[in-house]
Amino acid sequence: MESILGKTAFITGGSKGIGYGIAHTLLANGMNVVVTSRNKESAEAAAEKLNKASLGEGKAMGVATDVRNYEEQAAAIATTIKTFGTIDVMVANAGLGHFGNIADITIEQWNEVIDTNLTGAFYSFKAVLEALKKSQGYYISISSLAGANFFAGGTAYNASKFGVTGFTQAAMLDVRQSGIKVSTIMPGSVSTNFNGNEPNDKDAWKIQSEDIGKLVLYLLQMNPRTLPSKIEVRPTAPPTK
Ligand SMILES: NC(=O)c1ccc[n+]([C@@H]2O[C@H](COP(=O)([O-])OP(=O)(O)OC[C@H]3O[C@@H](n4cnc5c(N)ncnc54)[C@H](OP(=O)(O)O)[C@@H]3O)[C@@H](O)[C@H]2O)c1
Repeated sequence: MESILGKTAFITGGSKGIGYGIAHTLLANGMNVVVTSRNKESAEAAAEKLNKASLGEGKAMGVATDVRNYEEQAAAIATTIKTFGTIDVMVANAGLGHFGNIADITIEQWNEVIDTNLTGAFYSFKAVLEALKKSQGYYISISSLAGANFFAGGTAYNASKFGVTGFTQAAMLDVRQSGIKVSTIMPGSVSTNFNGNEPNDKDAWKIQSEDIGKLVLYLLQMNPRTLPSKIEVRPTAPPTK
């Protein structure tokens, strides 16, 4: 991408946490941003907060859409194109986790994690593929270090994030010759509302959402000939046990 000024990014789960941090950074650097949530009020409130901050020339728009529903994703993408004329960047970020021993993880929890984190990333790419071909755009998934390192209690989350990492890398190979860039970002602990966390002073050692925003900006501004395809990012000095 030669320049990001005036371009449009669609960020699933952009109403808070990492997605909001990415939206904030991209808006401040001259892009339009669409932030989504399952909840209309949350999506619209996040967009209003971004617009009120008068960060740049671009605009923020909030849209309610559930990444687990392909038709809703496609409709939200169509609304974005109608409003801004194009989609240049899709960040598949929406996600959640249920953690526990396999004996305790329920069928509903398993399905929610896989449907949101893995199938949601696939639906988001599938629904935006033609738009990204036209714009010669960028697809970025927010996987996790849990997409490369398994841990006890992580069956559903590890499976979803190993899946996202594999899916995104394979999709990168599918589309790289057609001018679409694809990257997988794999963060360690980020200070967000993930899994019921409330960001507070004790989170200071964690990656902050705006740091992931800066990382996305860096990827978008990379020379078009070069593709950092998979990026691990971790807190520099986590607490020692
Ligand atoms: N925080 C970490 O330490 C960390 C580390 C590595 C990777 N990640 C990944 O980063 C991504 C963002 O997480 P976060 O930490 O920013 O968590 P967060 O603060 O809880 O934000 C999650 C976002 O996803 C949205 N969302 C959840 N389910 C959705 C669905 N079905 N459809 C549309 N939107 C949905 C939420 O909105 P609603 O609930 O209103 O729908 C919210 O906007 C996730 O994929 C997570 O796995 C997080």
